[in-house]
Amino acid sequence: MACCSSLNFTATISSNPQKQSSSSPLPFTSHLSFSKSSSSSLYSHHTLSGTHCKKLSHPNAAPFLVLGCARKIEPLRIMISGAPASGKGTQCELITKKYGLVHIAAGDLLRAEIAAGSENGKQAKEHMDKGQLVPDEIVVTMVKERLNGPDSQEKGWLLDGYPRSSSQSIALKEFGFQPDLFILLEVPEEILVERVVGRRLDPVTGKIYHLKYSPPETEEIAARLTERFDDTEEKVKLRLQTHHKNVEAVLSMYKDITVKVKGSGSKQEVFAQIDGALTQLLDQKQGKLGTVAA
Ligand code: AP5
Repeated sequence: MACCSSLNFTATISSNPQKQSSSSPLPFTSHLSFSKSSSSSLYSHHTLSGTHCKKLSHPNAAPFLVLGCARKIEPLRIMISGAPASGKGTQCELITKKYGLVHIAAGDLLRAEIAAGSENGKQAKEHMDKGQLVPDEIVVTMVKERLNGPDSQEKGWLLDGYPRSSSQSIALKEFGFQPDLFILLEVPEEILVERVVGRRLDPVTGKIYHLKYSPPETEEIAARLTERFDDTEEKVKLRLQTHHKNVEAVLSMYKDITVKVKGSGSKQEVFAQIDGALTQLLDQKQGKLGTVAA
């Protein structure tokens, strides 16, 4: 899938493509022209996928062949936010599986720095141990680099746990990264603590488990599961305080594109709500584009 800030294409439609000749166009041949502004984006898995030649069918008409297609289409850009253990990472697994976006989790990037023993990692750990936000000097650059990566640019991105302050939102905007949708997971506090203390991670696959709600499938996996250093009841309370202090400032930056999701149901129930919002977003984008088949 490719991306760009604008889209224009011309399609030649013929009721009998085999007879088409460049020197003498057939009577049924027509030209379609589409354009879109740089302020919105498109999702290429629908109507106009990466192919350059596509058959369209209609129940009452002979099949048409579209010769020529979109030059380039912008992919989805999604943010997901919520309190500690609200289920961001869990939902990101499901979203990326269905929509193929690149998952960029600020917390994961920081833990990778800690594991690598870098100077940034050492500084980050001091703040994470106290449940505080890691300074912007470290986080902003890290996230920007991942967003600029060729995979994120090509496939679209799913930003998890960033931004967490108005300064981070502003920095992102200044770098030219604007999301299509801001998903906020809402989960009551008593559930959050239970989710944190029961969370386990598979270091081999990166999959997130919960001892009660999402137990490992085999004994072998169970034996290798690890716990996060900040997943204690004491530390999650500090992380929650930090979340409450900052969440309103971040929400105010994205209120026009925010969808609030009830995050206390099962992970499939939560995903159904998110999936509905993403499907609606795609439908809107297709509506703006217009459909070739219409
Ligand atoms: P980060 O790693 O982002 O932690 P967090 O925001 O506290 O969120 P979690 O990863 O703990 O939870 P989650 O919402 O992903 O839940 P999960 O799906 O795993 O950040 C860690 C630290 O890094 C921060 O405290 C901060 O210091 C620093 N940091 C990060 N971003 C930063 C930024 N932008 N700026 C500055 N500093 C930053 O689910 C949790 C558990 O619940 C799992 O066991 C799961 O199986 C279970 N579960 C999930 N959904 C359900 C469900 N529906 N039903 C039952 N169980 C469920």
